[in-house]
Amino acid sequence: MNRQRQHWDEVYTAKSPTEVSWYQPHLELSLAFIERVAPSRSAAVVDIGGGTSTLADDLILRGYTDISVLDISQLAIQEKKRGLGLPAEQIKWLVGDVCEFEIAASRYDVWHDRAVFHFLTLPGQRASYVTKAAVSVKKKGHLIVSTFGPEGPMRCSGLETARYDTAALEAEFGSSFRLADSQMEWHTTPSAKEQQFLYCLFQRV
Ligand SMILES: C[S@@+](CC[C@H](N)C(=O)[O-])C[C@H]1O[C@@H](n2cnc3c(N)ncnc32)[C@H](O)[C@@H]1O
Repeated sequence: MNRQRQHWDEVYTAKSPTEVSWYQPHLELSLAFIERVAPSRSAAVVDIGGGTSTLADDLILRGYTDISVLDISQLAIQEKKRGLGLPAEQIKWLVGDVCEFEIAASRYDVWHDRAVFHFLTLPGQRASYVTKAAVSVKKKGHLIVSTFGPEGPMRCSGLETARYDTAALEAEFGSSFRLADSQMEWHTTPSAKEQQFLYCLFQRV
């Protein structure tokens, strides 16, 4: 089994969805960005590395009808489907590594990633990620990427992480995407630690 996939499967075996450090009851900032750039409920939204997050639940509740969740961990997807129950049938579930996945071209109005990109510590992985995003986001569609900010942790879940300020994240996505907005957020983990996150909103050019 792929080492990364095994790592994430182990994380999701060891901890429940509300115990993981990145758990938030609702991804309020993400939801606000999504509703701002894609108010139509038929907009196609993909959550990259969605794991067991509550974003899919909240998008269903808000009436979105074309939601996809991609994650490298089969276990995370299974756990999320089980937790959602019947509404899980409304979601397209994709299992794979975002850097390698055969993602559909010009398919999505919104690409959302909270806390995945900062695990890509090799330039080649980041380049593949940006290519996948550029291929699958429609022209004028949007990308919401949330990473650890400059004061964020250097490791998460036993893995090294990169930290970004707005200019550094813009430099990663700048050739295919135009920066439209950015915001910092202090996230309180379930064990009451504070973690700085940067959210950047980009538009596909
Ligand atoms: C820190 S968690 C964040 C989960 C979720 N986005 C949230 O905010 O609650 C990172 C997630 O990304 C997934 N992941 C890590 N590397 C990935 C990759 N290369 N491709 C797809 N998913 C990945 C993990 O399995 C995990 O679910």
